[in-house]
Amino acid sequence: MAYENQFKKVAVLGAAGKMGSGILLLTAIEMAKIKFQQDDPDIDFILYAMDVSEEGLKGVMKYIEKQVRKNGERNPDQVKGYYNGNDQEMTEEYLLEKYVSDVIKLIKPVTLLGSLRDVDTVFEAVSEDKGLKIKLLAEIENYNPGHVWYLTNTSSIPIGELNEAAGLYGRIIGFHFYNPPAIQKLVEVIESEDTVSGLKDFAQQLIEHMGKIMVPANDIAGFIGNGHFIRDSLFGIKQAEKLSGENSFPLAVYMVNTISSRFLVRPMGIFQLIDYVGIDVVRLIMNVMNNRIKEETISSPLLDKLMELGAKGGQNTDGSQKNGFFQYDDGKITGIYDPESRSYTPVSGLKEQAYVKLGSTPSYMPVWKEIIKDPEKDKKLEDYFVELSETDSPGAKLAMEYGKNSKKIAEKLVSDKVAFSDKDVNTILKRGFFHAYGPINNYFNKL
Ligand SMILES: NC(=O)c1ccc[n+]([C@@H]2O[C@H](COP(=O)([O-])OP(=O)(O)OC[C@H]3O[C@@H](n4cnc5c(N)ncnc54)[C@H](O)[C@@H]3O)[C@@H](O)[C@H]2O)c1
Repeated sequence: MAYENQFKKVAVLGAAGKMGSGILLLTAIEMAKIKFQQDDPDIDFILYAMDVSEEGLKGVMKYIEKQVRKNGERNPDQVKGYYNGNDQEMTEEYLLEKYVSDVIKLIKPVTLLGSLRDVDTVFEAVSEDKGLKIKLLAEIENYNPGHVWYLTNTSSIPIGELNEAAGLYGRIIGFHFYNPPAIQKLVEVIESEDTVSGLKDFAQQLIEHMGKIMVPANDIAGFIGNGHFIRDSLFGIKQAEKLSGENSFPLAVYMVNTISSRFLVRPMGIFQLIDYVGIDVVRLIMNVMNNRIKEETISSPLLDKLMELGAKGGQNTDGSQKNGFFQYDDGKITGIYDPESRSYTPVSGLKEQAYVKLGSTPSYMPVWKEIIKDPEKDKKLEDYFVELSETDSPGAKLAMEYGKNSKKIAEKLVSDKVAFSDKDVNTILKRGFFHAYGPINNYFNKL
């Protein structure tokens, strides 16, 4: 019962954001499931969608309605089961609309924190700003001391620091969804030294109910996902800066983006991935890590400069990609930023040059989208990387160096005890980033 009780009054902070909107959808569906299972239909369930952006909340409610309808359409028997006994004679369409309306009725959009005085559980997904997170958590804690459980989506801030600064006495856990939360199966779970056992059990149950995969990480800034991604980014930036000594900056960026995607059989090159996460967000995460991991320099003057020049990446409210390292048209890369001219160089003129510079490639290059469905995936990848390692071209060498460094980063996450095992690092990186394989493998042993 602890699980169900904890789900009666829930709040999602930052509900209009990229992550918050997805978390709101998942919690709405879960709350509805719990409510329908109760014998007493009058028990009050409320899901507060809290955000400072009123406009954003209006958009989110439309998104939720659309997604809940899709969810109901995919699971007609479940929806029918919810109304068993009451509306048995009703058509599937009628039940679907009733389901959508019942789920929507659970959600209460609010812009003031003071509306959350009676919450049991809080999902925190506001911007990656330690001061802001602490302020909001401490204020909610003040309304109802010693009662609320907090699940924070922070990408990098140690949970123990949030716990201590907001005075939560262990009632907080890192519950790090991947983007987009409704689709990505992964949740990285981070306990602080003080996290209470009831909350750990709750988090585990929630993951099971949502059909997600849990990977535990230790409470060290950046955790596993960003611990790898940020260092991988720094390596890509270093490679591009080196190449830009004898190539134009846009050409160097395009070359490194190509080897880190096409040559390494990953869905996105490193610069496209930085744009996707947002250059501003990447800098915030770097800052959190840099302030806490003293033996490394985790910062990038290049990213600082791009921000200064207004190339920020991230997404618009309609989900479309904003320009950053690249200019995007309908999701496709059409230009590459040149800080010297402060404009985008059309990609069409650079593509061919980049491939000439990168040189020869193995005769067969797997494509990630196809290889992930291939029953002979492992063998094909192995053969491909053997051939890549034997290819004497600048592109093949850059790709092998990149892959080898990625493996080194991953292994260090285990030896530094950020991750509990190679398997955990591979699960996070494979599921959350690369899709075809994990970074700890035998592909990059030769070099
Ligand atoms: N974007 C990702 O890929 C990703 C992935 C995993 C985790 N995260 C983490 O999730 C969190 C949210 O990231 P995001 O990308 O969704 O950010 P976002 O900028 O899209 O959303 C943040 C939301 O917080 C709201 N907000 C700001 N101040 C607030 C306040 N005082 N009260 C209530 N709401 C407030 C904003 O209006 C916005 O809607 C961050 O901690 C981030 O590190 C992000």
